Amino acid sequence: MSRIPTGLQSRIMSAEQAAALITSGMTLGMSGFTLVGYPKAIPGALAASGHAKNLTLCTGASVGDDMDGVMARAGIISRRYSYQSNKSTRTLINEGSIGYIDMHLSHVPAFVNRQMGGIHIDAAVIECAAITENGLIPAASMGASDAFVRVADKVIVELNETIPLDIIGMHDVFEIGLPPNAKPIPIVHPLDRVGLNYIPCPPEKIAAIVVTQLKDKSPAFTEPNEISRVIGGHIIDFLKSEVSAGRLPQNLLPLQSGVGSVANAVLQAFADSGFRGLTMYTETFQDSALDLLDQGVVLGATTCAVSFSEAAQERFYGNLAAYREKLVLRSQELSNNPELIRRLGLVSMNTPIEVDIYGNVNSTHVAGSAVMNGIGGSGDFTRNASLNIFATESVGKKGAISCIVPMASHVDHTEHDTQIIVTEQGVADLRWKTPLERAELLIENCSHPDYRPMLRSYLEQAKKTAKSQHTPHDLSQALSWHQRFLETGSMK
Ligand code: COA
Repeated sequence: MSRIPTGLQSRIMSAEQAAALITSGMTLGMSGFTLVGYPKAIPGALAASGHAKNLTLCTGASVGDDMDGVMARAGIISRRYSYQSNKSTRTLINEGSIGYIDMHLSHVPAFVNRQMGGIHIDAAVIECAAITENGLIPAASMGASDAFVRVADKVIVELNETIPLDIIGMHDVFEIGLPPNAKPIPIVHPLDRVGLNYIPCPPEKIAAIVVTQLKDKSPAFTEPNEISRVIGGHIIDFLKSEVSAGRLPQNLLPLQSGVGSVANAVLQAFADSGFRGLTMYTETFQDSALDLLDQGVVLGATTCAVSFSEAAQERFYGNLAAYREKLVLRSQELSNNPELIRRLGLVSMNTPIEVDIYGNVNSTHVAGSAVMNGIGGSGDFTRNASLNIFATESVGKKGAISCIVPMASHVDHTEHDTQIIVTEQGVADLRWKTPLERAELLIENCSHPDYRPMLRSYLEQAKKTAKSQHTPHDLSQALSWHQRFLETGSMK
């Protein structure tokens, strides 16, 4: 099969020619999610020429340095929407040079489709495996690409010849429509297919096609250490106790697993857990999830993207036809859809930056002001899952930071949303607990012994000084740990 229909061959051009179609002040909707399926040639051409400045860049989620980093360092991005995990972009955001609007990932396509708040996508730039008469076959991530293509004035395709055509059939594109006529989503199992295997796109909307052979830059996962293995073990024990108590079925409920090394390590713990016949309904699918699929621990998954190391990428692309039966790639409007997350009854597992003694979770900001990555899908999943878990080491930066703090320096998930907190020290089950009961559990079960006495004395002081005893805080001290960290490099 040819990757480009005959009628569109005339739109093939160089990355430089395609980049010239982008002008200053435009809002670009680019494909990509968890470092996969993002355009790689046009961002480089835009950065090199520098002709288009003051661009607003909107993506589904994080993309590689050869897109985010290259454009940020060239100084052509003034606003960035939804999620990033790039060092250069992060630095420029925290210096105040790039305006960053961190959003729940389910909101991005929903708001783009509805053109909420006046957002308009001037050009969609989408990495694809092929173009057909009816539309686009995306690469190995869906992100918000369908929404970008739907509303954009023009579409620029990066056609990546390295992606095997066996990927055709892995995507499931379902158009919900706009309120008040939005349709119910007929998914009742993670492997249900309810839509098209391509993104509809009229050929006349395709302004340029750039052919590439550029691979995704693979994420590097830290090998699980003893601590992350202990955290994984606690989660498995906790889930088993829920099964024994009759609160979860033997094969659990569809799992969601977050981004990063801790999440990757936690999922690895399922390999020898004895759990079988699991499913996943998740936004990203990392190396350890692929292992679980190969081992038959996980039977199949919905995901918005795969995010593999180089070795796992090879395994995935080498066996695409087989994986197509077990993986469904959906837009983040579906993978992160609050109604589906609640109805399917997910078990969500994410990683916080810090948790305060009352169970408020900070997923995004270091010491209140510096953004790390963004909220991603953690809010979509946490609030709507039937069981939500946050897992982290009890300390960060070689013990200089306690991940259990008196008061979170930024709150992404409030005490009303959070349920189970896990560190290598143990598990705090916060469900149906009063604020003071939560504080006791978090301090005694989850905090590091180096910080436990400090947390105990903070709580005692808070009870003595606070006028009200529902959620006692000593406001003069509540953020003093963060202040000390900023001043001395340690919370101790
Ligand atoms: N204070 C300061 N820095 C902290 C910290 C804390 N309490 N906790 C973590 N960090 C820093 C680490 O030091 C590290 O920084 P470095 O790269 O400069 O060394 C960085 O955060 C990553 O931490 P790491 O321990 O490697 O964990 P990770 O790779 O598992 O990532 C998050 C952790 C919180 C950054 C990441 O999970 C995230 O961005 N989460 C929010 C989005 C989300 O949950 N998405 C999932 C939805 S599906």
